[in-house]
Amino acid sequence: MGKFELKKTDVWQNLEKNYKKTAMLHLRDLFKGSNRFNEFSIRDNNLGLTFDYSKNIITSETFRLLMDFAKTAKVKEYADKMFSGEKINWTEKRAVLHTALRNRSKKPVYVNGKNVMPEINAVLSKMKKFNNDLRNGKWAGFTGKKITDIVNIGIGCSDLGPRMVCEALKYYADGPNVHFVSNIDGADICETLRNLNPETTLFIIASKTFTTLETMTNASTARQWLVSKLGDKSVSKHFVGLSTNVKKVKEFGIDENGIFEFWDFVGGRYSLWSAIGLSIACYVGFDRFTELLEGAYYIDQHFLNVPYEKNIPIIMAILGFWYNNFFGASTYAVLPYSQYLYKFPAYVQQEDMESNGKFINREGDRVDYETGPVILGGIGTNAQHSFYQLVHQGTKFIPSDFIGFINSLEKVGDHQEKLMANYFAQMEALAFGLTKEQVVENFVRTGFSQADIEFLVPYKVFDGNRPTNSILIDSLTPRTLGALIALYEHKIFVQGIMWRINSFDQWGVELGKVLANVILLELKGETYSKHDVSTESLIKIYRDKRK
Ligand code: F6P
Repeated sequence: MGKFELKKTDVWQNLEKNYKKTAMLHLRDLFKGSNRFNEFSIRDNNLGLTFDYSKNIITSETFRLLMDFAKTAKVKEYADKMFSGEKINWTEKRAVLHTALRNRSKKPVYVNGKNVMPEINAVLSKMKKFNNDLRNGKWAGFTGKKITDIVNIGIGCSDLGPRMVCEALKYYADGPNVHFVSNIDGADICETLRNLNPETTLFIIASKTFTTLETMTNASTARQWLVSKLGDKSVSKHFVGLSTNVKKVKEFGIDENGIFEFWDFVGGRYSLWSAIGLSIACYVGFDRFTELLEGAYYIDQHFLNVPYEKNIPIIMAILGFWYNNFFGASTYAVLPYSQYLYKFPAYVQQEDMESNGKFINREGDRVDYETGPVILGGIGTNAQHSFYQLVHQGTKFIPSDFIGFINSLEKVGDHQEKLMANYFAQMEALAFGLTKEQVVENFVRTGFSQADIEFLVPYKVFDGNRPTNSILIDSLTPRTLGALIALYEHKIFVQGIMWRINSFDQWGVELGKVLANVILLELKGETYSKHDVSTESLIKIYRDKRK
């Protein structure tokens, strides 16, 4: 296919010109005499969500030009292709249908001419039944005792997805305890098993491929632990498998009742809506798992049906694109002000960086523009005391999303007002900063000497003009969480379309895996391979010092 020169297109060139004008503006000026909030915010009463993007360095013209870019990229047409099961993951020749997993309508979804909804709904029913059986003791451990603890063994999204959601919905938990083991470092599984009773523990092996080294190693250690205490026959009562690879699950010793299938049209990092969400369903109950799906479905409909100009994931995407490709912002921050969303930044990090960390476009050529940003994240207010200094006064330009909740789940003292005062204050400080004149005025008021004032002023100035989005949600519920996750999924999708890359493969993680398999044999002393001098020296030291 011929070279596609994205940067030479009119829509890109128009943005380039607009950037030259807009980059000279400060949010202080943009806010003067205008009600930007009216122009640049969206309130969705059905969901209970306000999206304020007025604190971005854009004019009405910028917004229009960014929208022109998205329209020319045919974002909506590609969304239709995704939802209708076209094989938009062109390097793996796969459909991308995590959206079918949360399709709450009665509409069929076809892959290769086959409606996949009956299979999806059958697995959901099986998950529901399993959850009920677990809770009422019908599915008990080998010795007849009720399951009290679930250990989800997986990695990547087969870990982060359910782990992030279980953490986020902890307040709603009414099922067994859940634990998550992902790292191949033996400390992870050993620390988890230390306090567990094999008679009352169930292992969920979550792996799309059922071949991932970390997961299969941890699963086999868990199996040995169980078998050493309860014997071989106990496996089928204490292990279930979530996978597309049913054959491998059976080989592991899991029987039909314990197999929860999903399909290769579900990408690993988009899989929490599938059987991979089993630990979520068990932890908070199947009804709440359903509400999570409903929240995501609500955003799917919003994404498909709301015009570009009012479409929240499209707006999130174009703003990120604006800073990434014109302001040279290589980092983007995701900052939830909620303890429950502790794992959310890490989840978005995988979602975004594994999806859009690509340099080859649709034509098979190397791109000559920036694609996916580095995702930085942490929860407020903790992150304020770690990396915010750099965001406020560092030399890097880091746009960010602030995610907050109006009503707290835990009602204790004035914690919520203090938390949210920080939420609003940080966005205000980032946008408007503190001018030299304001700093001097503050000093004079507090009686500082002229010499001290002159010395300290440069250190105390905040430039401001750091853009933020506010995603302000009425309450954290399974439904609003599902919606929030889907907003990010679609934002990432839109950006992938705008950059003309495949957001749904992940070849970049393969090379390290292959080399690790070679080196593993060397560390075990089974083979010897030639490496560079640095790698060879390090392996030698490792082997010499290994006790
Ligand atoms: O290494 C990348 C990856 O393929 C992720 O996309 C995925 O979430 C993870 O590994 C785990 O893969 P699996 O579910 O097949 O074990």
